[in-house]
Amino acid sequence: MAETKSSVEPDLLPQIVTPIPGPKSREMAEQLGRVEGQAITALSPPPIFWSRANGSNIWDADGNRYIDLTAAFGVANVGHAHPEIVEAFHLQAQTLLHGFGDVHPSETKLALLRRLVELFPGGQEAHAILGSSGSDAVEIAIKTAMLATGRSGLLAFEGAYHGVSLGVLDVTWRSEFRTPFQERLPQKTEFARFGDLDHVIERAENAKARGSAPGAVLVEPIQGRGGDRIPPRGFMRGLRELCDSEGWLLIADEIYTGFGRTGKLWACDHEEVIPDLLCVGKGLASGVPLSACLGRKSVMRAWPRPGPEAIHTQTFLGHPASCAAALASIDLLEREEGVARSARLGEAAIRKLQQALSTSPHITEVRGRGLLIALQFRDSASAQRVVEQALERGVILLPSGDAGDVISISPPLTIEETIFDHALNQIIESIALLPAEQPR
Ligand SMILES: Cc1ncc(COP(=O)(O)O)c(C=O)c1O
Repeated sequence: MAETKSSVEPDLLPQIVTPIPGPKSREMAEQLGRVEGQAITALSPPPIFWSRANGSNIWDADGNRYIDLTAAFGVANVGHAHPEIVEAFHLQAQTLLHGFGDVHPSETKLALLRRLVELFPGGQEAHAILGSSGSDAVEIAIKTAMLATGRSGLLAFEGAYHGVSLGVLDVTWRSEFRTPFQERLPQKTEFARFGDLDHVIERAENAKARGSAPGAVLVEPIQGRGGDRIPPRGFMRGLRELCDSEGWLLIADEIYTGFGRTGKLWACDHEEVIPDLLCVGKGLASGVPLSACLGRKSVMRAWPRPGPEAIHTQTFLGHPASCAAALASIDLLEREEGVARSARLGEAAIRKLQQALSTSPHITEVRGRGLLIALQFRDSASAQRVVEQALERGVILLPSGDAGDVISISPPLTIEETIFDHALNQIIESIALLPAEQPR
């Protein structure tokens, strides 16, 4: 991926015209501090305010243009504001913007569900239930597992992130999210070391001893927000075997890793593992809030048919315009061969970063699958400094990992190769500028 200056599309390169953040962003940060609950946006240092996005480019309120290597938490799978997605959303909004949840379904919801179940791994017959956020999808999976197994205990993993709504907080690992709300949590989750099957068995015994035998294992095949952590080869397959022998359901949370992010349609496909339940979100609709829990038909049949009320629903369930966007996004992923592109670009980028950073005193590992790539720093201060320096050079990065010592690279799968290469060079140069010893 050598950068040839002449082949770089100048309109897509960063263009920085103010100090970062610029005066308008600073002013807006002050205004935001006056109106938004203070837990939400970190305002020191002030963030840049996004005002426009297209493909892999973001423009901020001050007119600076950036390359986005985050796809905004992996959402803009086929690029920001893809015209076909915008058009699909717009056309649907003109005819039927809002549906009627579970009462009178829309044609578009039906079309999306038909499409989604076809994508279930291994071609197994599947059913799906839609949600709006990733947390919704995980909650549906947890409810399904309870109905199907009659057990409420779960096994999950250290480092896991499954969302922060009260229904899923009990399965998210990081204590900073859980501790303030601990008293409202059922504490029915046993956490095992990620990648360690023996520890899964040990924790399951522990759960049984507490009288809370697990009904299911909930796993991200590659941990996303935990720092793009890849388990040892064979782990997912071993987990599948363990689930089969113990009578547990296997729930794969592919909200981050799904839809080609890791170079296969599903990260489970790397080991040809078929989960019982599959949670998707983020890249499903490439920029519109929508999620789903897909599951093997026999497992999903544990849900009762609705009586006068459906026992699970949401006001916006199957929102027609969002479903139309998802259909367009799935079409685009296929047409633009996003999965193969993710594998190819990811492999080249990982090789480039490994070569360039092999002697860096700051980087202990470059790892990744497809376009989910992690730079593991020795310390979080260096990672943070590189995020800031890259931003000043017009490259948007996401700090990640429980300790904030990882930089996650997850651009749109459609990013232009030369632009991606330019952005990687900016990261490499920013790392080279770090002082040899970071103050601790
Ligand atoms: C693997 C995984 N599961 C669930 C979630 C929660 O999704 P949401 O923030 O849309 O509720 C996330 C969000 O980052 C995630 O990465």
